[in-house]
Amino acid sequence: MAKTIVLYYSATGTTKARAQKVAAALQADLAEIHAAKPYTAADLDWHDPQSRTSVEQYGHDSRVAIKDDLPGISGYSNVVIGHPIWWAIPPRLIAATIDRLDLNGKNLATFATSGGSTYANSQRNVARTVKENGYRVQVNQGAVLNSDVAQAAWLKQLNFN
Ligand SMILES: Cc1cc2nc3c(=O)[nH]c(=O)nc-3n(C[C@H](O)[C@H](O)[C@H](O)COP(=O)(O)O)c2cc1C
Repeated sequence: MAKTIVLYYSATGTTKARAQKVAAALQADLAEIHAAKPYTAADLDWHDPQSRTSVEQYGHDSRVAIKDDLPGISGYSNVVIGHPIWWAIPPRLIAATIDRLDLNGKNLATFATSGGSTYANSQRNVARTVKENGYRVQVNQGAVLNSDVAQAAWLKQLNFN
C-alpha cells in the first residue's frame, strides 16, 4: 500500500490537533516541523507590526530556517503538510520545509487552520515554492480544515496513490 506522511507546523496547537486527525484518517505517519529558532508569544503578536512574524511574513526574504530533524520521505508516495495561516499565507518556514524535501514524483497536499482566511493565497504561495524548486510533483488543492466536516470533504477529493 502507498504510504503517506503528514508533516505539520503548529505554533499554538490548533494545527497539531488537526494534523493528528488527518493522519489518523489517512493511516499516515505524523511528524512535527520545528523552527530552528522557536517562536515566543511576543513573536506571534500580529498587533505589533515589528513582531517577528509580522516582519517575516511581510518581509522580502521568503524563508525561515527549520530545525534539521525532518524525517526522510523517500519511502512515502504521498506527502501532506499542515500549517497555520499567518497574514494570509503559510509561515515562511513552510517554504524552507518544501526546499528541504525531495518532492519529485510525490503527491503533495497542504492544509491549514486559520482564523477565517481561505486557502487561496496559501495555495499560490505553495505553488510558487514548488516551482522555485523545479519539482515534478502533483500538487493537490489545499484547504482550510477548521472542522471535521471540512476535513472529510477535503480528504475525499485528494488524488493520492
Ligand atoms: C502571526 C499570526 C498571523 C495570523 N494571520 C492570520 C490570517 O491572516 N488569517 C487568519 O484567518 N488567521 C490568522 N491567524 C490565526 C491562525 O491562523 C489560527 O489561529 C491558527 O489556527 C493557529 O494554528 P496553530 O495553533 O497550529 O499555530 C494568525 C495567527 C498568528 C499568530
